[in-house]
Amino acid sequence: MARRWWLAALLLACAAAEAPLRWEPRCRQQLRHLQDGARIAARLPPRLEGHWVSTGCEVRPGPEFLTRSYLFYSNRLFKAHQFYYWDPSCREPSYSLVIKGKLRLRQASWITRGATEADYHLHKVGIVFHSRRAMREVAAWINQTSGAGCSGFLPPGRSWAPGALYELLSAKTERDCTAALGFAMHELSLVRVEQHYQALLQPQQPGSRLVEELYLGDIHTEWVERLHYRPTGYQRPLQNAVHHVHPCPACGIIYRADEHHPPILPVRAELPMQLSGSWVSTHCEVRPAVLFLTRYFIFHGSNHTWEGYYYHYSDPLCKQPTFTIYASGHYTQGIPSSKVRGGTELAFKVTQARVTPMDQVTVMMLNSSEPGSCGLTDSWHAGMEQDITPTNGCLALGIKLPHTEYELFKTEQDAKDRSLLFIGERPTDGSSPDRPDKRPTSYQAPLIQCAGASEEFSKYVSLKYLGKQDANGNEALKPLPVAFLLFIALFLSF
Ligand SMILES: *[C@@H]1O[C@H](CO)[C@@H](O)[C@H](O)[C@H]1NC(C)=O
Ligand SMILES: *[C@@H]1O[C@H](CO)[C@@H](O)[C@H](O)[C@H]1NC(C)=O
Ligand SMILES: *[C@@H]1O[C@H](CO)[C@@H](O)[C@H](O)[C@H]1NC(C)=O
Repeated sequence: MARRWWLAALLLACAAAEAPLRWEPRCRQQLRHLQDGARIAARLPPRLEGHWVSTGCEVRPGPEFLTRSYLFYSNRLFKAHQFYYWDPSCREPSYSLVIKGKLRLRQASWITRGATEADYHLHKVGIVFHSRRAMREVAAWINQTSGAGCSGFLPPGRSWAPGALYELLSAKTERDCTAALGFAMHELSLVRVEQHYQALLQPQQPGSRLVEELYLGDIHTEWVERLHYRPTGYQRPLQNAVHHVHPCPACGIIYRADEHHPPILPVRAELPMQLSGSWVSTHCEVRPAVLFLTRYFIFHGSNHTWEGYYYHYSDPLCKQPTFTIYASGHYTQGIPSSKVRGGTELAFKVTQARVTPMDQVTVMMLNSSEPGSCGLTDSWHAGMEQDITPTNGCLALGIKLPHTEYELFKTEQDAKDRSLLFIGERPTDGSSPDRPDKRPTSYQAPLIQCAGASEEFSKYVSLKYLGKQDANGNEALKPLPVAFLLFIALFLSF
């Protein structure tokens, strides 16, 4: 394993020496760091006990803007707060939910490798309105969508009383008026806890700091599906209120909040979206139904062209590569989104793509695909890249060229003044946002800027050698069923 790794490093060093690649160090370091497992350990079974908080303002499909603060006790009971807002900076609270119940961990998930399945039972859900307007709107939704059982939830003509808590759901009285809010706690049915160490850069602070992250199940991008959807991917992780990344101004504010004192996050400068430059994943990412990947993009603002690399893996730490897709094309000028405040709408056109299988399973699948349906040559080899532009894509991987996607982007500065790029969430049903009405209303995990516009690299260096392989070759990989691979590969996804 070590020898292969050094060989890879050598190849990279050679590649880097060939071209004037000022972008290289940070972008490549980050990718290599991720493929090295980013020194992440997953707790199995996960230990949920403790207090977990959002690290910033979250955006759910809809859009909904919220922050979360979840407490898990040792006797399996939990108390969760969800704070909802009108605005994308989480500064104007609309209402808060207090959710109480019980959670029982089950077995390791068969679908999402690395996740644990759980059963939960809700005892109570209460709601506190933070304004008259919030109360009026929620009452109207409930009036429209719920049966007679919920009409008494808010007595007619009841005026807003600050601080009053109303019961939306009670196991005891069997009342459940949560559906009108699109509320479900299915996120608790898929859990994963990761630990890593954050290096402390200040010389007076030797060592490193433990960081614990709690990944909970994802929310379906379609409103009508979310009440029934069993998650197979994750939302942005919560962090342990004691062991979180520093600095995190939002963490303490959310930790101290309750339903009567919803967190109001610090003001942030609203910066125009600056897309130019190179951006790379910060984590091994998981997509619903189920795909592990890291992403790397270069946007050329000067001529509105883009290039993207999608490194796919079979494992939740992104150590076992399966295939890589390189895609490129152009994009439109962005316009501010009216639906998702703070977001920018763009359209992306994919005109060219190349595929590199990285393991025997993918090679076999591509080898057995219809001649002429995926690149001009029918013989594939692990590590060998093939252009699929001449065949208008790759049938076996579900890639059609040219292809247009309607996107939602957002850039943000994190607490360390690094630039983050949020790209729209993929439709949970696996389709592509190929019509304006399918444009996302929430975001995927952010990418981090690893090189500015002036440092764009000019030459394509094959990053595929970054993939680490087992000493005994790819045979060691757990093969995914081909049909499954076919399915998951339907995303030529951002
Ligand atoms: C709910 O609906 C009833 C009858 O349709 C109406 O009289 C009442 O004012 C509505 N309440 C709210 C809070 O919208
Ligand atoms: C766009 O600009 C970048 C760098 O500025 C360059 O590398 C690339 O070849 C250009 N693409 C096209 C299609 O002109
Ligand atoms: C794929 O096809 C090539 C050429 O026909 C062959 O050399 C290679 O062994 C095949 N690989 C697999 C895994 O079937």
